[in-house]
Amino acid sequence: MRIVVYPGSFNPITLGHTNIVERALDLFDKVVVAIGKSADKNSDSLVQKRIELCRYALAEFGEQVSVQSFDGLLVDFVKQQQTKFILRGLRTLTDYDYEYQMLEMNRHIDSNIEYVLLPTASRWSFLSSTRVREIAALGGDVSAFVHPVVAEYLQRASK
Ligand code: PNS
Repeated sequence: MRIVVYPGSFNPITLGHTNIVERALDLFDKVVVAIGKSADKNSDSLVQKRIELCRYALAEFGEQVSVQSFDGLLVDFVKQQQTKFILRGLRTLTDYDYEYQMLEMNRHIDSNIEYVLLPTASRWSFLSSTRVREIAALGGDVSAFVHPVVAEYLQRASK
């Protein structure tokens, strides 16, 4: 079974992320969405909420997708999942700079690691979780960018 780990903050998961997962399933049997706890200082309950929202947003893929959080080094988590593949989406050249640095660091820590970088579908190339959070916090409509359950949660959280 070919497994790939898709790490990120997913704060929140967007339709851009979902598109990456969907396309990765053409290449892999299973995608493990991995929410990095160390990426920020958010509480366990907020990470738990992100996991829950990812599970709703990715439910259509059934058992081919699992959602977990991880603490510590990404490369260790990848090994625990019994794979060597890491998946990331790429929107812009700026993304590439950031990804390339992370990729090289991770390959220095573990030379066995392989990266799969998928270009974001052009219709989502402008989309970012940060912008979605900002729009929702200011009372804007984010339903075009995220799963309805995520949009509802952000709308409630902004009140
Ligand atoms: O979506 P993001 O915020 O770019 O995701 C960042 C994430 C979670 C992939 C990154 O912070 C990470 O891998 N954290 C785990 C800690 C780690 O292994 N750090 C070394 C990587 S250079």
